Order: sequence, then C-alpha cells, then structure tokens
Amino acid sequence: MPNMHSLRYRIMGMTFLLIILTTFGIVQLANWQMETLFQEYLALQPGIAESSQTLGASEQSFLHSVHHSLLWFGLLFAFIGLVVSFLWSRGITTPLYELSRAADRIRQGNLHQQVDISSSDEVGQLGMVFNQMSERLANNEQLRREFLANMAHELRTPLAILHSHLENMLEGISPASPEKLFSMQEEVMRLTRLVCDLRDLSLAEVRQLDLHKNETNLNLLLRRATDMLTPLLEEKQLCFDLELDENLTSLWLDADRMNQVFYNLISNAIRYTYPNTTIHIKTYQDERNVFVEIADEGPGIAPTDLPYIFDHFYRGEKSRSRLGGGSGIGLALAKQFVEIHDGSIKAENLPDNGTVMVIKLPVMDN
Ligand SMILES: Nc1ncnc2c1ncn2[C@@H]1O[C@H](COP(=O)(O)OP(=O)(O)OP(=O)(O)O)[C@@H](O)[C@H]1O
Ligand SMILES: [Mg+2]
Repeated sequence: MPNMHSLRYRIMGMTFLLIILTTFGIVQLANWQMETLFQEYLALQPGIAESSQTLGASEQSFLHSVHHSLLWFGLLFAFIGLVVSFLWSRGITTPLYELSRAADRIRQGNLHQQVDISSSDEVGQLGMVFNQMSERLANNEQLRREFLANMAHELRTPLAILHSHLENMLEGISPASPEKLFSMQEEVMRLTRLVCDLRDLSLAEVRQLDLHKNETNLNLLLRRATDMLTPLLEEKQLCFDLELDENLTSLWLDADRMNQVFYNLISNAIRYTYPNTTIHIKTYQDERNVFVEIADEGPGIAPTDLPYIFDHFYRGEKSRSRLGGGSGIGLALAKQFVEIHDGSIKAENLPDNGTVMVIKLPVMDN
C-alpha cells in the first residue's frame, strides 16, 4: 500500500493539481472566448442576425464540435499532466530514496556507502556531501581499529618482557640483579610515558586537552630544549646551530606542550641524522605568524613515508626494524599540540640532504 503522505505522492498530487487547474482554466477561457467571438461574428452577418435570435442547426453543430474538441484537448492535457507529474516527482524523490537507504545501511554499521547521484542541483550536492561523509566515517573507523591494534601491539611486547623477567626472578632462574631491575624500571617508565602520550593525544584530538596558556617566548623554550638535549649530541658527535630572531613576538600558548613539541622534533633530528652533522634551529616571523624550523643533515624521509609520518604509530622502515625504537607517537603528538594552538606543522626534505620541520603559529591579536 503506497504511503499517500510520502513526498513523491505529495509532489505528484500538487503538480497534477496545478496542471489540471491550468488546463481547466484554459479550456474554460477558450470556450468562453470562442462563444463570444462566434456570437459577434453571427451578429455581423446580415441575414442571420435579422432572421433569428437562436442559432441554426449548423451553427449549433459547429459549437458542439468545438466544445467536444476542447473537452478532448483538456482530457489529453490532464493525462499528459499525470504522466509528467509522476515522472517529475519520481526524478526528485528517487535520489532521496537512495540516500535514505544508504543512510540506513550506515546505521546498521556498513559505513562505506556511496550513492550514484550525478545531478548538479541541491539533491546532487546533498549526495556529494553524503558520499564524502560516508568515506570519512569509514576512514575514521579504519583509523580507530588500526589505532587500537597498534596500541595493543605497543603495550604487549614490553609487558611480555617484564612478565618473563619477573617470572624468572620469582622462580629463581635468574637473580634480581640491580642492572636487571634498572632496565625493568626503564621499560616501565617508557610504558608510562607512552600511556600518558596516548592519553594526551586522544584528548588533543577531540580538543579537550587542558591548556595552561601564558605569554611565552619561543626562543627561550628552544634554548631550554637544546640545553636539555645537549648530552645526547655526544654519541653521534653532533652540534646545534641556533639562528633565533631576537625580536620574536611572544605568543600566548601552553609552554609545557610546546616544549614537548620541540623536544620531540629535536630528538627526532638527533635520532635520524648522520653522525658529525649539525642540527639547525631557526625562528623568524611575518606580520601574522611566527615560524620555527628544525632541520637536520640526515638521510631525509622516504617520499613514500612523508605523507604518513604524522599518523599515530607510523614509523619509517628503518626505524621499524630498529630494536627498542620509538613508538611512532612523537610526530602525531607534535601535530596535535601545534594544531590545538591554531598552528600547523609540515615536514619537507631538503634539496641537499636532510629533513626540515616547519612550525607555523599565529601571532595573537591584541
Ligand atoms: N628528522 C627526521 N629524519 C628522518 N626521518 C624522520 C625524522 N623525523 C621523523 N622521521 C620519521 O618519521 C617517523 C615518525 O616519527 P615519530 O617521531 O612520530 O616516531 P618515532 O620517532 O619513530 O617514535 P617516538 O617519537 O614515538 O619515540 C620516524 O619513525 C622516522 O621514520
Ligand atoms: Mg620521534
């Protein structure tokens, strides 16, 4: 039983009504016009006007046949109106039906739905937005699954190692030497850091991370970060080259979070560069933004890795195989922390050698 309140029947009914009323009006008007003109014509004929006030048989037959034709004309138009209103209402509502069916499949958990609506009107626009939304939903779901799987993987390995160490100690297979306890403590600290980073990352992603903003000078933060990281330079015989704009405008931001960003980027530069090279750190600004560049002279990032390095848990091939390597969270965290301050971050390979990370932060409006 068709639903008479559906949009299709309502559009069809209204269109049909409009066509019927228009046709009826035209037929009535034509009838009336024709009769008047015919009467006027007869009045001008000398013989007929004087002989009789009533119409003769042939005149009546003429009028009758014209009425008849107009009636058929009206019926034909009514039929055409019915067909046109049906096709028109179907043209409008079919894409909407398709959209509603696809939305229902999404509701059932089948997230990747694409509708085939090629019109360039409002319904076409709705279809395009729907397709984009569905693709995004599917991507987000995929990312969520990958994120959970990666997190489980990242936590499982160190926990398994700790578990086996503890088991061996308890069973007396290996004694609890200070070195062993120290390395276990390091592993626990790494895990704790990872869990904290993951918590901050997920809060930052939904913009719910508490920020403690103050007027901050980025040069100061960079100097502090390089001082803290100087001991790490020794092993690879690296050095820092700081080129800081002394007139840099102070920014309104959370110094601890920004410190974490610089820490992650500089640690990466140290970790991934060649020995005996320099790490260049530069600040500058234009009217609207302050820029920070951290560049190394290492091998750069493989073009295949470049689009993904800011994703959660993404590690380049070399770092993936490295024992005890990072978790691939550092850049994801840096990106979120910069974006939460309305800034942006990008990575580029330098033409000669190395990678440069560029952070752009807006100058506050006073
Ligand atoms: N300066 C760099 N030079 C070359 N490759 C880099 C550089 N910075 C990052 N990468 C690549 O990007 C990947 C992601 O970096 P990210 O900092 O997110 O993770 P990670 O350093 O592997 O681990 P984590 O920072 O969590 O300890 C790295 O694994 C590395 O392959
Ligand atoms: Mg890192």
